[in-house]
Amino acid sequence: MGEELLQRRLAMEGEQDAHHYRRASDAFRLEHLASAGPLIRAVLTLTGLRARGRRNMADIRVRRNEVVLASLPAAFDGFTLLHASDLHLDLSAAHASVLAQRVRGLACDACVLTGDYRFAVSGPGGAALAALRAFVPVLPAPAYAVLGNHDGIALAPGLEALGVRVLMNENVALERGGERLHLAGIDDAHYFRTHDIARAAQGIPPDGCAILLSHTPQPYREAEEGGFALMLSGHTHGGQICLPGGIPILTDCPAPRALARGPWRHGGLAGYTSAGCGCSIVDARFHCPPEVTLHTLRRAR
Ligand SMILES: [Fe+2]
Repeated sequence: MGEELLQRRLAMEGEQDAHHYRRASDAFRLEHLASAGPLIRAVLTLTGLRARGRRNMADIRVRRNEVVLASLPAAFDGFTLLHASDLHLDLSAAHASVLAQRVRGLACDACVLTGDYRFAVSGPGGAALAALRAFVPVLPAPAYAVLGNHDGIALAPGLEALGVRVLMNENVALERGGERLHLAGIDDAHYFRTHDIARAAQGIPPDGCAILLSHTPQPYREAEEGGFALMLSGHTHGGQICLPGGIPILTDCPAPRALARGPWRHGGLAGYTSAGCGCSIVDARFHCPPEVTLHTLRRAR
């Protein structure tokens, strides 16, 4: 990922573990406030919405998204990616089991995981890794992953030991019928800001078809300028707790609201932001069901 960015990530992880932040604004981020979860849970309990919020969390949908890409090699026409984001797997064993049931047996050619495997943003990652040990074998195809703002870098070797290729500002080429589809991944661009799109794109030919995995859609401009055809992201949870009609109250993402959930486009870049499989801060969802997504790639005629 690059030595300088690695040192920056490790220093910031240290700040999170010690709950002592150099930048005062970091101390007041919702995911860093110990009182945020209990406070929202209390409000939901007092308003009689707690049980419904938890039922909504378990209602994981399988969404289908067709993406037309002008540069897609003919051999990859119909190639399908199973996309799971924001799993927060150690929140609840019951929820992890529902997610495993949803993905088991889904027809796809590769799986992509766009970060946030852990529920908390600091502390030991052992529970998330234990949950991943049960979940990863259920994935129906080879898996590629990036880390999110909830993930310590120590999760990366754990994921790789499970056979998941973790892309830390780097890329791999998928081959089919003598043609190549390039899959790049960057480290978290939301909190750690340890992403390096230029480094992730190194070696991809200018006329190659390349997909970027990024936990957050925030670096969408750089992805478009970098020549990527498609960007797959998560992080926003689609708002998680939304107003009727799926209107998010908060997205924790400075990108335009149009990029907060579902398919979007920016110039020559196609994008999709997953509403995520799990929950953060509180185990509840409203007007924003969790999802896994099947992206089928189509070559422009
Ligand atoms: Fe998340």
